[in-house]
Amino acid sequence: MRRFSTHSRHSTRSPMSHDLFQAARAAMAKAYAPYSKFPVGAAIRTTDGRVFSGANIEIASYPEGWCAETTALAHFVMGGGGDIAEVAVVAERMARVTPCGGCRQRLAEFGRPDTRLHLCDEKGIVETTTLGAMLPLGFQGDILK
Ligand code: THU
Repeated sequence: MRRFSTHSRHSTRSPMSHDLFQAARAAMAKAYAPYSKFPVGAAIRTTDGRVFSGANIEIASYPEGWCAETTALAHFVMGGGGDIAEVAVVAERMARVTPCGGCRQRLAEFGRPDTRLHLCDEKGIVETTTLGAMLPLGFQGDILK
């Protein structure tokens, strides 16, 4: 049985997922985005309950900046990694922000196709999808191992 609707507006059915949204929103407050003025926050919860979050960080040499999801993934790896249960992403200026293409590939590296991805607005989860739905036919690194 699916526990999450794909189109649930500000669902209160999962307090844990709402906590993850709040972690992403708290991370967004730390964004360093003086050029785009487009703060983004992301949070990752592992199946054993650890939460890692991150914000986007921009650099005057624009291509050298990176996304909130990438910061969160770096914290996840440095915190010991593990199995990812769910991911939340929020942007200050855009409801239901979706990860960029590069971050979809990065998230796919550490999650699974059925890993839940919560797309949020400033109040909570707007839609829950999966990493697989975000990156169909993504490049698989198995061949490289
Ligand atoms: N950004 C993210 O942090 N995550 C995304 O998935 C989309 C874009 C950031 C990068 C840049 O700092 C700003 O949003 C505008 O592109």
